[in-house]
Amino acid sequence: MKVLLLGGNGQVGHELRRSLAPLGDLVVTTRDGLLTGGATCEVLDLADLDAIAPLVDRVQPDLVVNATAYTAVDRAESEREQAMRINAEAPRRLAEACHRAGASLVHYSTDYVFSGDATAPYGEEAPTCPVGAYGASKLAGEEAIRESGVSHLILRTAWVYGLHGNNFMRTMLRLGGEREELRVVSDQVGCPTPAWLIADVTAQLLQIRTPTPTGVLHLVSRGKTSWHGFAEAIFEVAERRRVISRPPRVLAIPTSEYPTPARRPAYSVLDTTEVVRWLRRELPDWRVALEGTFDRAQKGMSCFRLLNMPEKR
Ligand SMILES: NC(=O)c1ccc[n+]([C@@H]2O[C@H](COP(=O)([O-])OP(=O)(O)OC[C@H]3O[C@@H](n4cnc5c(N)ncnc54)[C@H](OP(=O)(O)O)[C@@H]3O)[C@@H](O)[C@H]2O)c1
Repeated sequence: MKVLLLGGNGQVGHELRRSLAPLGDLVVTTRDGLLTGGATCEVLDLADLDAIAPLVDRVQPDLVVNATAYTAVDRAESEREQAMRINAEAPRRLAEACHRAGASLVHYSTDYVFSGDATAPYGEEAPTCPVGAYGASKLAGEEAIRESGVSHLILRTAWVYGLHGNNFMRTMLRLGGEREELRVVSDQVGCPTPAWLIADVTAQLLQIRTPTPTGVLHLVSRGKTSWHGFAEAIFEVAERRRVISRPPRVLAIPTSEYPTPARRPAYSVLDTTEVVRWLRRELPDWRVALEGTFDRAQKGMSCFRLLNMPEKR
């Protein structure tokens, strides 16, 4: 099988480079043709919409996995057009090109397609109602893919973190090394999900044959917590594993005390019953997944270097 992976340097894209490799011939793109680590790859800037179809036509993949997205949630409020271009128009062009070429498409979406007003986990069929520009652009991307007629799998995930790129875990560890006290929002609830888990489950779903999973599936770690609970867990694991010597105090604050340009869903828990049915195995609890992330960081490489954080004095 020939697989075209778009966005090999993102959090999820980086992990997909590893998990998709055993599936066959893997062709990777980044915006500048360079992979983290220094190797070269194919170039694709999705802002150049006319470059998408020619790349698909030239590579002739059996499967395209799109790990690219405009993910700057707050900036999207003032850059709505750019967010729409990358998250909706580019996936539309990509889906149409895949459909013409007979390739299937795997795409990622977000809990931000929901309003966050629910009190029980969102199923795949729950009504969508994004509260911000980023969520609206991602929802438009989902709809464009469905309309194209391409054979597709859209995996909605949430609260993504990992060893690469900008994410909550790395930010906490960096700030925790610099400050005595951190104030973290405790009234937004979700499912922290490591990029490696998303990449591993993607590869596992692609290996399921007859019938192949298609449509929308929710893919997040099991359980739920707040950003405050997640921060406390990160520091508890980091101290126990001697990644940091002295964790900061983590104070719980309401969202109203941490105003941001974009409104965020207060309740972002996704129901994973369907993906578990396909996988025939449970997904790890978010705390187990966090331990697994530290395991990966500490395997063979300096945790401090991997997490890019200064050592606390
Ligand atoms: N992060 C989260 O918390 C979260 C939550 C829910 C869903 N998701 C979804 O999960 C998927 C993966 O997200 P992630 O966390 O891995 O995102 P990420 O780390 O921000 O990576 C996004 C990737 O998209 C690339 N990209 C952005 N604009 C591009 C353009 N114009 N042309 C080509 N590439 C472009 C980036 O390239 P550069 O490296 O060159 O910038 C980067 O490699 C996305 O669909 C996202 O919407 C993420």
